Amino acid sequence: MEFKASKFAGVSKVTTHVLQEMKNKNEKIAMLTAYDFSMGRLLDQGGIDVVLVGDSASNVMAGHTSTLPITLNEMIYHGVSVVRAVKRALVVVDLPFGTYQGNSKEALTSAIRIMKETGADAVKIEGGKEILESVQRILSAGIPVMGHLGLTPQSIHKFGTYVVRATEEAEANKLIDDAHLLEEVGCFSIVLEKIPAKLGTRVASELKIPIIGIGAGPGVDGQVLVLHDMLGITQEFSPRFLRRYNDLSTQIQNSVKSYINDVKMVDFPNEKEQY
Ligand code: KIV
Repeated sequence: MEFKASKFAGVSKVTTHVLQEMKNKNEKIAMLTAYDFSMGRLLDQGGIDVVLVGDSASNVMAGHTSTLPITLNEMIYHGVSVVRAVKRALVVVDLPFGTYQGNSKEALTSAIRIMKETGADAVKIEGGKEILESVQRILSAGIPVMGHLGLTPQSIHKFGTYVVRATEEAEANKLIDDAHLLEEVGCFSIVLEKIPAKLGTRVASELKIPIIGIGAGPGVDGQVLVLHDMLGITQEFSPRFLRRYNDLSTQIQNSVKSYINDVKMVDFPNEKEQY
């Protein structure tokens, strides 16, 4: 089935208010990650609503096995590159691990650095009640905050595994309470990661703000995927929620092989490709 035309295609800049309007008018929000200028520009030209400069950069750009090692300076570097490319989409930058958890003053300093140095539109932050003071302090400076609940990869050492979250009643109830708290203090949106679809639908229907899912089923207000996963650049990561829209790893490797062959056979450069 093909989506014909977005009521919001004509907006010159997607803002947090536009996202709220999209929820109010039942139009789903499409969000993807980007970490550099070239990809940011392609996503924006393709009409994406939200670009997330995710701390998944730690995995897909730097090759770490978790999101924990990436630093604030590195996130700012990625944020600057993406913001330089994006004209229309809302750009959200993740606050990395260790820059907001323990101390709300430090959280505000980190968020201010991201907003000032990258020119992004908002920050994203993982957690609920336990980081509420940090969220409130950032919001009090007029910085839009996107929450992130469910599987929160920065807490992987606490969970011990990347399995689906909130399948038990107690954890589901905590997630619902946290979502309400984040909405009450003023978050403009929340990402829900890897939770039962029924729970995703419930949170999206109880809350007024847009709920963006990654492995949270179709009943939420929008979806997000990691760009390198959906393009098939990463090969080893294939959770059930991931749909691959391309097989770029094969395409890139085939292109590299063709190039090597052409160089070795002195077929490249040919007469037209020289001065
Ligand atoms: O860092 C990231 O890419 C994310 C998404 C998985 C939502 O937080």
